[in-house]
Amino acid sequence: MTKRPILRIATIVLVVLATGLATACTGEYNPKSNQANDIASLWWVMLILACAVFAVVIGLAAWALFRPRKGPSTMDKPRSQFAFLLVGGAVIPLLILAAVFGYSLDVMGHTGSDQSGQLVVHVTGHQWWYDVEYPQQSVSATNVMYLPAHRQVKIILNSADVIHSFWVPELNGKTDIIPGVTNHLYITDPQPGTYIGHCAEFCGIGHTAMQIKVVVESQDAFDRWVANQGGKSQ
Ligand code: CUA
Repeated sequence: MTKRPILRIATIVLVVLATGLATACTGEYNPKSNQANDIASLWWVMLILACAVFAVVIGLAAWALFRPRKGPSTMDKPRSQFAFLLVGGAVIPLLILAAVFGYSLDVMGHTGSDQSGQLVVHVTGHQWWYDVEYPQQSVSATNVMYLPAHRQVKIILNSADVIHSFWVPELNGKTDIIPGVTNHLYITDPQPGTYIGHCAEFCGIGHTAMQIKVVVESQDAFDRWVANQGGKSQ
């Protein structure tokens, strides 16, 4: 065999790996709440599993291409081939996918759990802005959400017109805002900081500019903001 096929395979492997790494880096995964931590853990487990599967598959393909072919191999028997296909093509993928599915369901359960004593924030999506209301404090804001750090927050999502989305990657997963439907999103133990959320559902000409800034600060600073807005602190 000439060197060319080896070079071609090596190039393909390098391009695939570089693409994967670049995607991982631009994801800027930086979880700042319990839910985001759970999602990040799931993401890392899935990435590591996918890399392991990729390495095994490429390893087997390389072995099949370059193995010495002197005399018949045990793999040339139909029975061995069938067993290999059954285990490698069905049993092992089924086990891996079942484990990932179970783990995903577990994370979905964690990220969507309701609790008592939480701060309630009502977000309404408009073309092309977010109306943010605090029914417990009787205050509101536009395109900015102030949250007290380390609390449990329940966000109620409604739309005034078309389908929008609420997505602050550092705090929780993406949740659609759908006309006629009320969706809920929970944020537990948010860390102090400023996070940018994007509308992630195409909603018209102003979609790309539809952003929300989430400012997580101390309970004292949050109470001061509520007082300055003429609201009542809880
Ligand atoms: Cu709202 Cu896209």
